[in-house]
Amino acid sequence: MSKRIQEILANMSLKQKIYHLQQVTTATYLTTKESRFEIITGPNSAVKLDKEMVFDVGTSLNLVGAETMIDAESNYLKNSKYKIPLMIMQDVIHGHRTLYPINLAVAGSFDRDLAKEVAQMAAKEASLDGMSVTFAPMVDLVRDPRWGRVMESSGEDPYLNGEMAKATVEGYQGDMGPYNIAACVKHFAAYGAAEAGRDYNTVDMSERTLREYYLPAYKAAVDAGVKMLMTAFNIVDGVPCVGNEHLVKDILRDEWGFDGVVISDYGAVEEMIVHGAAENKKEAAYLAMKAGCDIEMMSSCYAEYLEELINEGKITEEMVDKSVLRILDLKEDLGILDKPYRSVNVEESKAVQLSPEHREKARRGAEESAVLLKNDGILPLSKNVSSVALIGPLANTGEIHGSWHCGGKAEETISVYEGLKNLLGDKVKYAQGCQIEYDSCDTSLFDEACELAKNSECVVLCLGDHQEYSGEGNCRANIELPEVQYKLLDRILEVNKNVVVALFAGRPLAIQRLDKTAPAILDMWMPGTEGGNACANLLFGDAIPSGKITMTFPRALGQCPIYYNHYTTGRPKKEEDDEKFVRFTSCFLDMPNSPLYPFGYGLSYTSFEYSKLKMDKAGNIRLNVKNTGKRSGCEVVQLYVQENNPTVLRPKKELKAFKKVHLEAGKSTTVTFELNH
Ligand code: GLC
Repeated sequence: MSKRIQEILANMSLKQKIYHLQQVTTATYLTTKESRFEIITGPNSAVKLDKEMVFDVGTSLNLVGAETMIDAESNYLKNSKYKIPLMIMQDVIHGHRTLYPINLAVAGSFDRDLAKEVAQMAAKEASLDGMSVTFAPMVDLVRDPRWGRVMESSGEDPYLNGEMAKATVEGYQGDMGPYNIAACVKHFAAYGAAEAGRDYNTVDMSERTLREYYLPAYKAAVDAGVKMLMTAFNIVDGVPCVGNEHLVKDILRDEWGFDGVVISDYGAVEEMIVHGAAENKKEAAYLAMKAGCDIEMMSSCYAEYLEELINEGKITEEMVDKSVLRILDLKEDLGILDKPYRSVNVEESKAVQLSPEHREKARRGAEESAVLLKNDGILPLSKNVSSVALIGPLANTGEIHGSWHCGGKAEETISVYEGLKNLLGDKVKYAQGCQIEYDSCDTSLFDEACELAKNSECVVLCLGDHQEYSGEGNCRANIELPEVQYKLLDRILEVNKNVVVALFAGRPLAIQRLDKTAPAILDMWMPGTEGGNACANLLFGDAIPSGKITMTFPRALGQCPIYYNHYTTGRPKKEEDDEKFVRFTSCFLDMPNSPLYPFGYGLSYTSFEYSKLKMDKAGNIRLNVKNTGKRSGCEVVQLYVQENNPTVLRPKKELKAFKKVHLEAGKSTTVTFELNH
């Protein structure tokens, strides 16, 4: 910690230091009519601060726009006694104004550079809009597709999650220059293991499972130099994470040596009362401060009770000083102490947001992340097609960019309809076909859609979930496609067999019925601002699918939790694919154990052959990969290992390395891996 921030701290009264640990909304400081001070005592009534205190707050969250940042910061500085600039944070999860594919999709590209580049571009757009910190990457390992937040994760594998975490932190933070922002890894820890996939629900697991599967990606972010970490809403081992000393103090601070800022999640400090872990706000403040949480987001237990706790000797002023110093250190690192407005720039922000370069990356990212789940040979479609019927509730909408769309706007997102028209002009005709609501029974639009399908050479059918059916708090007990969408598909297949389904969702769906009936399925996930152009290019062969799934697709919800890196059990079924029921083995009466699509799966428009696999004693592995098809394409070569005679059980197979190779038709390459023991 520099001498400079030690001096700043020395000049602060105890009250100012305590209020510096408080986070409120940025809107609190706007002088414009719709947002003013009462914001934090109005809708966010959990925060009890009066006019004097609010201008000693250290950080704020949520803000969109350079002008609003300038207004808020200048009003804050004008009224603040200490004039230590605000540090403004926002959820820039997969893009700011230009939205990239959701993180579950980008992970499926198995392209570290892509993950880094989209973070870099998002950081530039966000920094020019006045943001200094993003609440990302979210690296929670996930195994339950009912959970709405799987869309912002990287999936079910610890190694891949760690690789994506590292690349994303490096992308956001870079050299902490003016176009970089600090990253905040979240949600520590194991938020993705919420029982039944129900958000905020109980998490309970052995320390071994926690350390083998759930912790590695947070550690990868810490090792990559992440500046901040957010604790999770859930409990681990019966203790809420924000007040969990074993997690935050023993593991994060002492074992991993993390000395960055720790922030609570939204209102989570006070929620310890609801959990039953704290009797009141005072005890909640005590538990969170003792565990090592520096910033309290959107509740004010610290502001209201830390001074009392210090006077009672339960908390020391030194503990508060350490938290203030961590925050001041980050502000200094970001250059905020010298430049309160940091990188904000109204004109440059307008020029950079949605720029051709950013849109190009968004389109390329969506093309690289999409997963071809099924293809009976109908794809790619020919651009010489005479007429295309574009049908479905997700065909003509910009709401295909995921639920963390903060600065993004649906009207700026390319729909599939626009994308197809860009490619094929007026050969494309559109009919909605049905509603997007998962409980809709409305078939009134079927006839119009079937008439269009009957009179078209082929059909592109856009099905799936609305973007708000996943994301925070948006969990589903049923992850099937809505019945009305299946009915529409059946009706269309009666009049035209040339149907391809473009699937949009923020989670794996249990689409065994779709797999049985649709000739082809291209999973676009939630592809972001350029989703429609990417979808059109992939369907008509201007781009070749290369994405893989990073979270298992179950045949049915009843198989969940289902994930690839599982143990064998003492009575494994010989063939997981085996439809036959084999009593007294680990299986189901009514369904095979195998998923519909496994982790690492994804088809291409070409084919690849592996040969000459060799490994020497030093663990150097090499193999040959050949493109045996007629088109160029990318293959993700994945290295899995199984440990023989382990001291404690290991999964049947574990991903330990991957490389993505591009090969022209007929060409070969040698891929090597070094398997460090
Ligand atoms: C939310 C989320 C967290 C987000 C924070 C600020 O509740 O859990 O991921 O960063 O609040 O928006």
